[in-house]
Amino acid sequence: MTSSLPSDGSGPPPSALGRTAHAGYHDVPDAEGGRAGRSWWDANAEEYTGEHGDFLGAADFCWCPEGLREKDARLLGEVTGRRVLEVGAGGAQCSRWLVGQGAHVVATDVSAGMLDVAAALDRKTGARVPLVQADARSLPFADGTFDAAFTSFGAIPFVPDAARIHREVARVLRPGGTWTFSVTHPVRWSFPDDPSLRGLTADRSYFDRRPYVETDAAGHVVYAEYHRTLGDHVRDVVAAGLALTGVVEPAWPADNAQVWGGWGPVRGAYLPGTAIFRTYRPD
Ligand SMILES: C[S@@+](CC[C@H](N)C(=O)[O-])C[C@H]1O[C@@H](n2cnc3c(N)ncnc32)[C@H](O)[C@@H]1O
Repeated sequence: MTSSLPSDGSGPPPSALGRTAHAGYHDVPDAEGGRAGRSWWDANAEEYTGEHGDFLGAADFCWCPEGLREKDARLLGEVTGRRVLEVGAGGAQCSRWLVGQGAHVVATDVSAGMLDVAAALDRKTGARVPLVQADARSLPFADGTFDAAFTSFGAIPFVPDAARIHREVARVLRPGGTWTFSVTHPVRWSFPDDPSLRGLTADRSYFDRRPYVETDAAGHVVYAEYHRTLGDHVRDVVAAGLALTGVVEPAWPADNAQVWGGWGPVRGAYLPGTAIFRTYRPD
């Protein structure tokens, strides 16, 4: 899911900033914003995993901070014997669960640091997930390789050109193959990244697409997160030749008390936090 730092433009406390000198919403060159994802996740892989690893589990498939799990949701359908691609896999927890279900999985991520976490979890669990370092915008696989592809909050929020991800995924899917991806629910962009009641007052335009950006003292982008409206996501998917079959908006379950950045039970009672898009490549 997103940076553990608040993306409300006020900026995190200096102790949490590391290299970050400024945080806010403003346009940056696409190349710089798209590149920042890799180094940010390399630098923060261990801290992120330390903070969220227990909730994610080592071999569990969690779609979102609401805690929707694939074992209950079955958004990928039958996976046994299927060739499945995970993009932006992070610690590859989802892929590890799929291996346990008999799927033939490849987990990819742009960050070597996150793939190191995945390898460590393999050693810990005894599972073996094939790991490939790859930017989701340029996948090193032949056309039509996979029956299904997915990501749980990976890659898409961190690139300025998500349409490229959808095109690449469409290319490596066989006809009829599915692409399922979870992202921050688009309405969340209008609200401060605050899990308390204070986070329930909209203070930004839903239509403001400027990314949330953290820069270092020299003005270099160290973190960028991109907003897309609901219509933007649909347009990108359709332009990639994919067909949209549904959008899942998980409700906040009464038994989930955990807070993850701006997500939590207080706001979850009022606002959706996650959107999961279900698409497929037509024949
Ligand atoms: C919030 S994590 C999601 C991973 C995992 N599902 C989880 O919930 O922790 C985001 C992941 O996207 C990866 N990522 C960011 N930009 C990417 C890109 N351009 N291509 C592939 N992966 C990318 C990051 O390295 C990170 O592992």
